[in-house]
Amino acid sequence: MFTFIDLFAGIGGIRIACEKNGGKCVFSSEWDQHAQKTYKENFGETPHGDITKIDEKEIPSHDFLNAGFPCQPFSTIGKREGFEHKTQGTLFFDVVRILKHHKTKMILLENVPGLITHDGGNTFTVIKDVLENDLGYKIFPKVINASDHGVPQERKRIYIVGFLKDKYGDNIEFNWPSADKKHKYINQFLEKHQSGYNISKHLQKSYLFKQDDGRPQIIDKNSEVKVKTLVSTYHKIQRLTGTFVRDGETGIRLLSENECKAIMGFPKDFKIPVSRTQMYRQFGNSVAVPVVEKIIHQILKTAAQYKKSH
Ligand SMILES: C[S@@+](CC[C@H](N)C(=O)[O-])C[C@H]1O[C@@H](n2cnc3c(N)ncnc32)[C@H](O)[C@@H]1O
Repeated sequence: MFTFIDLFAGIGGIRIACEKNGGKCVFSSEWDQHAQKTYKENFGETPHGDITKIDEKEIPSHDFLNAGFPCQPFSTIGKREGFEHKTQGTLFFDVVRILKHHKTKMILLENVPGLITHDGGNTFTVIKDVLENDLGYKIFPKVINASDHGVPQERKRIYIVGFLKDKYGDNIEFNWPSADKKHKYINQFLEKHQSGYNISKHLQKSYLFKQDDGRPQIIDKNSEVKVKTLVSTYHKIQRLTGTFVRDGETGIRLLSENECKAIMGFPKDFKIPVSRTQMYRQFGNSVAVPVVEKIIHQILKTAAQYKKSH
């Protein structure tokens, strides 16, 4: 058993992955009331609100910190002056002050791959510098596509794994989970005759198929493919990035709730007590559970190995 905290918790995708690995959540934070509602319905607790207002001393001690934090530029003024200056006013600063106080042994940060090039590379450089030099972590960043790990969705995310060197030694090495040999495709998960997800004929003509450029991605029961990344604005009909289904009364519809669960690797019995718009937003902001579950498994295995030898 290990204890963890769930920061920027959303609807708890990372929490599911931790719990599947035997973790016990001792603190969660998420300020969006719709996400809080879904979280409460599934995990029985309402996450604490705005993390910037929470004193790190009030957070229980824990073995593992998870955070899929929003990425923001850092001021370049405080480059050599320690993390308070470097990260002031950003949500990463809140992650850092919690790590500094608790000396959390293991960390998993998750973000969009654009983090690497954000603000001309400065954001990622500061994150690495603060974690390694100011806080004493050995860190391992990697961009992984969830489609290699049990879901029929292209979803590339950067994962930053960190181990506190004081606990595990300077020589700790980390092996990322290997990709699945057998892949999953969307046709295994499509539902038939779903109503309520229709895209009107008018919208199809005026927007979705206005240009004959093969976009958006349209799928049906014969599509042995992976769907495109589910984005948080999917409900606004993202024709360039979206995936839509040949089905329903108007011929084309949005992905259903169950299909969203399947492409994100969420359990079938995960409850959605919010509107459809919020549902897409919440899944689009979340993580593909199976890949995170595997990464956490590897983190725990590595920690157990190096704790003994150190
Ligand atoms: C990319 S999402 C993370 C989703 C999560 N990993 C999941 O599985 O659902 C980032 C989340 O951070 C939340 N957030 C942003 N600023 C926050 C703050 N100051 N305090 C608490 N939560 C915040 C947003 O509402 C959003 O749900």
